[in-house]
Amino acid sequence: MKITLKAPAKINLFLEITSKRPDGYHNLQTIMQTVSLYDELTFEDLGGADQSIILECSSKELPVDESNLIYKAALAVRKFYNINRGVKIFLQKEIPTGAGLGGGSSDAAAAIKGLVHIWGIEAKKADLEKIAAQLGSDVPFFITGGTALCEGRGEIVTPLPAVLGMPVILVNPGFGVATASVYKKVAFPLTKPRKIHRITKLICEGSFGYRNASDYCFNRLEEFVFPDYPQIKKIKRVLTELGCASFMSGSGATIFGIFDSESQSETIKSKLQMHQCKTWAVLSSGQ
Ligand code: C5P
Repeated sequence: MKITLKAPAKINLFLEITSKRPDGYHNLQTIMQTVSLYDELTFEDLGGADQSIILECSSKELPVDESNLIYKAALAVRKFYNINRGVKIFLQKEIPTGAGLGGGSSDAAAAIKGLVHIWGIEAKKADLEKIAAQLGSDVPFFITGGTALCEGRGEIVTPLPAVLGMPVILVNPGFGVATASVYKKVAFPLTKPRKIHRITKLICEGSFGYRNASDYCFNRLEEFVFPDYPQIKKIKRVLTELGCASFMSGSGATIFGIFDSESQSETIKSKLQMHQCKTWAVLSSGQ
């Protein structure tokens, strides 16, 4: 048996830090949104006796050993359900790494979903989310995807009505930012703590979009990233000048711009080419 699953990228429409936790992590209030940029994972059951986990990847830069989150997901699924089946997984990598787009987390969630399917496990969603939370703060969100309020470290997920088909441009400077190094810079007290309920209300009413995005979106981590990476700050400025509501996604390095109509995407993309960034015109997507 062979199956292929898509693993979408995400953006953070809102991200505020509420406190530092005793375990070293930070409590967040964030709204995550999947978009139509995908990695693709193909799973092949190795049959009865072969218990190997074989991971192959289109990108030679990514490790395919136990340090890869997909490999860790396979080990975690086997342990949780106490089984010893083998699998071959091929990862077609499209989402840039260290980009704030959740690529590694999304791959891990797709691996959990693909493996329970290919190994014939009747899994409860709550159990998949439990396995996901062991692998990383953002992984549980990707079990469902779409639009969701994520709290705690990010692993407490409350689905929201999906924001569908909203045109978004993703702009990546071509280098990554390490998440842990950004969170280390977070200093309290934060200036003007932001409340999430305004944007949550808009999303629940179905009225969130390009026209109100610049007033309602927010990312606290921008102020801890921009001083070290002026190139990222500049991308935000360029996108804003082009008329987009633009914010950093997660801990960077990608900036996303929400714009009015899909027909503008080529103009915006060509204007960004001179800044030598990688760009993707995508749409916000459901689960
Ligand atoms: O959970 P994940 O492995 O994605 O987190 C990467 C790093 O980001 C953590 O080791 C931690 O330093 C930081 N982090 C944090 N608070 C969060 C999420 C991540 O401090 N809510």
